[in-house]
Amino acid sequence: MKIGILTSGGDCPGLNAVIRGAVLKGVRTHDFEFVGIRNGWRGLVQNEFMPLDRHSVRGLSRQGGTILGSSRTNPFEGENGGPENIQRTLDAQGIDAVIAIGGEGTLTAAHRLTEAGLNIVGVPKTIDNDLEATDYSFGFNTAVEIATEAIDRLRTTAESHGRCMVVEVMGRHVGWIALHSGMAGGAHAILIPEQPKSIAQICEWVERVRDRGRAPVIVVSEGFLLAGMEEAHSTKGLDAFHRPRLGGISEIIAPLIEEHTGIESRATVLGHTQRGGAPSAYDRVLATRLGMAAVDAIHNEQWGSMVSLRGTEIDVVSIASATIGLKRVPPARYDEASVLFG
Ligand code: F6P
Repeated sequence: MKIGILTSGGDCPGLNAVIRGAVLKGVRTHDFEFVGIRNGWRGLVQNEFMPLDRHSVRGLSRQGGTILGSSRTNPFEGENGGPENIQRTLDAQGIDAVIAIGGEGTLTAAHRLTEAGLNIVGVPKTIDNDLEATDYSFGFNTAVEIATEAIDRLRTTAESHGRCMVVEVMGRHVGWIALHSGMAGGAHAILIPEQPKSIAQICEWVERVRDRGRAPVIVVSEGFLLAGMEEAHSTKGLDAFHRPRLGGISEIIAPLIEEHTGIESRATVLGHTQRGGAPSAYDRVLATRLGMAAVDAIHNEQWGSMVSLRGTEIDVVSIASATIGLKRVPPARYDEASVLFG
């Protein structure tokens, strides 16, 4: 059997470890052959492939990014897009099945393609940890580590100047990265999309911290809404899946804090640093296990399925169950953290 592997959507630490796990197990256990599909769905639409044998995945689990390249291409758009064209391309390359490694946008597209009869198995990938049907996705742990280190560093400069630091993390419309890095870094408030807050409430927390002689550190998720906002702050247009590009809410909140409290405030947007560099050991292990499980799912012809983490076990679920909605931070998890705010 010949398997094509693609990595699509925003890159994420651990993608290469999935590729390595899949290729090594696929070659050893199932005698599969592999080919790399370049730049996500774009490779299938524009015929871009690369060789992928066991030698090309050597030492790959510690390497950030993706050797295959990635893009936010919608496979249903463009003159060579759509299931019939893509199936023709796969047939021409002799590819029997595809492992699609991606987040919400990629897996939604994969689900539609499997409904049209294509042989696809999904692997969940996202630093945002917003996919249903998997407890964690690889990349999240690394992003939280990076954000936590940044919070620790910003705290020492905040304390030196007696300033308030507003640290903005990614996460799109869910607050997992903010919740975990904020708790790990001992933030004085954590602002997430699931829990809109007024500027008065934020300033009350900030003033309590200042009154104790400390420098306030606030962690805000890019999708956070100040009370009264109807949509998350977005000034950068839409991505290929017609979703707003987020970022910059900290630059609105920091001046408001300064204006309301008189405390000098600074905003830091961590941005793509959270996706860069080597994956954590946890993410390497999870990604390798998911890659190995994906080739088993292909061997079992479980088309339309996705490998996932349930507790400590790797499970096989339907892609549809992972894309029915976003996995949001439950109120109880926020309430638990907020006891320590201010
Ligand atoms: O989904 C991962 C993610 O990093 C989000 O947290 C963020 O909003 C988005 O991708 C950024 O996308 P891009 O890399 O296209 O700027």
